[in-house]
Amino acid sequence: MKRLTTLQIQEKKERGEKIVMLTAYDALSAILAERAGIELLLVGDSLGMVVLGYDSTIPVTIEDIIHHAKPVVNATSKAHIVADMPFGSYQTGWQDAMKNATRLMKLTGATSVKLEGGVRIAETVKKLVDAGIPVMGHVGLTPQSVNSLGGYKVQGKTPRSAVKLIHDAKALEEAGSYAVVLETIPAALSHMITSRLNIPTIGIGAGPYCSGQVQVFHDILGLYDDFSPRHTRKFVDGSSLLSQAIIQYRESVEQESFPSDDESFFMEERNKKLINKMIENETHVIDESYQTVTKTEIN
Ligand code: KIV
Repeated sequence: MKRLTTLQIQEKKERGEKIVMLTAYDALSAILAERAGIELLLVGDSLGMVVLGYDSTIPVTIEDIIHHAKPVVNATSKAHIVADMPFGSYQTGWQDAMKNATRLMKLTGATSVKLEGGVRIAETVKKLVDAGIPVMGHVGLTPQSVNSLGGYKVQGKTPRSAVKLIHDAKALEEAGSYAVVLETIPAALSHMITSRLNIPTIGIGAGPYCSGQVQVFHDILGLYDDFSPRHTRKFVDGSSLLSQAIIQYRESVEQESFPSDDESFFMEERNKKLINKMIENETHVIDESYQTVTKTEIN
């Protein structure tokens, strides 16, 4: 089965079909997403926060992304897999970007890579695209720049910053990006950007006018009960559901109702008797290669 291509993603946009992307970080999340009909999976550096327990995406390494992208690719057959380029893997110049992007693609089988930034990284994007690496861009709130943005704030609220973001998105399209993520910007601005670009825009916290939407797996499933960004929607209270199930498991073991006969394996009565006899009479011993042998065989 062939994976969704960048050309098919463009065709979806042209047909006016919404593009749906979800993050995935392991085989299970990828299987669930693909089974639900999600055609675009992002192995995002958000894994630093939702899987690895960091408080930002900054510490995520290229090895982390490789480690998590492999099972996502292995467990799926149709989805287009986007691998995030983490902080430090492309900001140091296009040569480093090329080395890291080719490693990501070779070692994981991902179908494209994603980089944060606009005009600033356009040259790097062009080099990657020229080398045959499909690139998804990402502008607006770019979490890898959280320290210079002064926090996780809505971007592009002033006319000047909005115009800059329009230029950033346009620069990515001109450099050859096949799509661009718009993160945490006013809906009206994402509307302006989407109508000025030929490539699809994928929004997160950017309102309804984008060509598609992307969300974090753990957010839509409500897996963290203490954190829910405004731009997301909990389609299930996963944290309560899973916690309840784990409590039931603990209680069942403590109250000795788990495992039941149905959840256990049994041995034939005559084998039980034979084992007891063998042990009592010491007629058999275990040799160094873990074979049971009769005593007469070794004497
Ligand atoms: O890492 C990530 O999950 C992302 C999305 C929020 C777009 O970059």
